[in-house]
Amino acid sequence: MHMHKYEKIWLFFGIGSLFVFLAVLGVGAFAQGTQPPSCLTTIDPEKVDQTPPFDKPGLIKTGDNEYQLNIVASAFAYTPNQVEIPKGAKVTINVATKDVIHGFEMAGTNVNMMVEPGYVSSYTQTFDKVGEYVILCNEYCGAGHHLMTAKVKVVEQ
Ligand code: CUA
Repeated sequence: MHMHKYEKIWLFFGIGSLFVFLAVLGVGAFAQGTQPPSCLTTIDPEKVDQTPPFDKPGLIKTGDNEYQLNIVASAFAYTPNQVEIPKGAKVTINVATKDVIHGFEMAGTNVNMMVEPGYVSSYTQTFDKVGEYVILCNEYCGAGHHLMTAKVKVVEQ
């Protein structure tokens, strides 16, 4: 079978890029551990207020410049709704909802998690810049959805 030179080049290019993309995916998934959030931490949505650490929501120091920020989401508020974090702190944010699905987004950062009843959503973020971050809800959750905000202040320590 005769194949045109350009046809061969395109065939080589097509199959070649397939292997390149598979390699990128493989290195990302297996060598660097990039994967979707696991949602493995579960919680009884009716007992969020009684379940640690959500019985005392807020910022907890867990190590040298390391913190845990536990937030309870409910229609239509975040508890606590104002937090101060020292600059440079590495913060693991855990969010649980008492009622419906909420969308926990910290504007201007990579923190953007869907909060589902029955699960704890977590994300670790380092705050290197002094400033104010608005936390909002980006999942329509009812009549007061647009009122559902909180604020994080990153301050000089
Ligand atoms: Cu909570 Cu929208």
